[in-house]
Amino acid sequence: MDMDKLVSLCKRRGFIFPSSEIYGGINGFWDYGPLGVELKRNIKDAWWRDTITSRDDVVGIDCSIIMHPKVWEASGHIGGFSDPMADCRECKGRFRADQLTYIRFDLAKDDSAETKPKTIYFFGSGNAVEVAEQNAKKIGKLQSSIKPGETLNRTDGDYTTLDTEAKTLFHCPTCGKAGTLTEPRNFNLMFESHAGAIADEANKVYLRPETAQGIFANFKNVVDTSRTKIPFGIAQVGKSFRNEINPRNFIFRSREFEQMELEFFCHPDQAAEWYAYWRKARFQWYIDHGIRSDKLRLRDHDPDELAFYSTATADIEYAFPFGISELEGIAHRGDYDLGQHQQFSGKDLSYFDEERWERDKPAMGMTSFKEYLKKNEGAEKPGYPYQYLPHVIEPSAGADRATLAFLCEAYQEDEVGGELRTVLKFHPRLAPIKAAVFPLVKKDGMPEKAEAIYRELKRHFNVFFDEKGAIGRRYRRQDEAGTPFGITVDGQSLTDDTVTFRDRDSCKQWRVPAAGAVQALRDLLEGKPIPGAESPATEIEESSN
Ligand code: GAP
Repeated sequence: MDMDKLVSLCKRRGFIFPSSEIYGGINGFWDYGPLGVELKRNIKDAWWRDTITSRDDVVGIDCSIIMHPKVWEASGHIGGFSDPMADCRECKGRFRADQLTYIRFDLAKDDSAETKPKTIYFFGSGNAVEVAEQNAKKIGKLQSSIKPGETLNRTDGDYTTLDTEAKTLFHCPTCGKAGTLTEPRNFNLMFESHAGAIADEANKVYLRPETAQGIFANFKNVVDTSRTKIPFGIAQVGKSFRNEINPRNFIFRSREFEQMELEFFCHPDQAAEWYAYWRKARFQWYIDHGIRSDKLRLRDHDPDELAFYSTATADIEYAFPFGISELEGIAHRGDYDLGQHQQFSGKDLSYFDEERWERDKPAMGMTSFKEYLKKNEGAEKPGYPYQYLPHVIEPSAGADRATLAFLCEAYQEDEVGGELRTVLKFHPRLAPIKAAVFPLVKKDGMPEKAEAIYRELKRHFNVFFDEKGAIGRRYRRQDEAGTPFGITVDGQSLTDDTVTFRDRDSCKQWRVPAAGAVQALRDLLEGKPIPGAESPATEIEESSN
């Protein structure tokens, strides 16, 4: 699948637009158009329903984007959520020093090359590699070039550790000048703002870089106000912001994006089991929603990739046209987050398992929990196993990355009725429009009948009405929008009050009584089989003319 084709279809059909396009766009920000917003909403709704409302053990929450700055100290985002960046003093370009690719060009020996270095070096990654090549050509005639892939980490050591003299050898990939890159400095990825009228340090706030911390900060509130008992989860869907240095690959890495995060709190003894459960369940979720190809993968982190507090993490990855990349991470986070917030806020965030205590205390001959604590005085966790900081399993997904993966997986080009078509084969649950209603021709009372059916369907589903142009062309437009079913009022409809249903993927057609259209569509959307799915039939000509 060609990424450029998908991006252009998304623009042309109103799925995704560059943000502020009339002003030339803004790097790392995207807008969802009428079809895109429905698609993303359906993904988030499916996640919400499957993760929260269809279960007994997960509740939802919606936290503010701006939180107390101490939250980000506790979470480690103020101290650690940063990348080492090197700036070009000349052109003001900015590069990630730990990910810079080492690009070497050998210049041909000619008269003009006498005074020039024989070999020149650049730093760069992604597009910078091509720009570097153009700049190298300006400096001299290229004899050979070694690009990209050799990172300094593997060859000469990290850029950050090179001595000053070595750094002067390198050229800026963007402007081509030598020795212009600064010492790398840590650049925090959080967007800053100020709450209140005075823009000073005391009023500094951050746009949240993840939704998870709102959940941890509200753990006690939820336990105290709802009947949640461990094991249980708190989930949130919402915007997050990261000042990514290199936003790229369409909506894959942007600076404003949406996350769908679940923090599942459990007893430390059960954490491994719950980790295994969510790792499997989340992977299956993508398969159930149409990512059936081997492009979907589940990759367990190697021990040296794990954060110090994590005993296991797995990434759900998708083979996008630009490479295999993460859609969602499932992390066993231990009690790290609640422990940090307990320490920074000074509030007790432990959980007391009253049921277990009530069950066990008679056998211990105790009447109060104070007695139990006294008995264990001096122990590392005197209240254990009744009072403890729960362990957390965190499945953390990106709504935009999921949208992109569903788009990539759905995109197909095939041939119908001798014509090439582009079709988005979305799972019906995710499809922005569930069905389109068409009068075959714009006469003989067909438009009126079709509109009446459309109005009835519209009360239940997001459906679309289209009476303009050849029927084949109207089908094609809906195929491209990913609409799973077409409903056509034709000549026969006027005599026997039936309509033709058409399936987007197989192009099969079958008749349904007009009065039963709502139920028929509901059945189809719920995955019931297409009537006569075995028999080959295309009754209404698919030609676009
Ligand atoms: N609370 C854990 C957390 O935020 P993460 O791996 O940094 O973990 C989780 O982010 C998910 O959020 C990623 O798997 C990805 O789907 C999405 N995500 C992260 N950064 C993103 C970005 N710049 N653009 C789009 N999605 C992003």
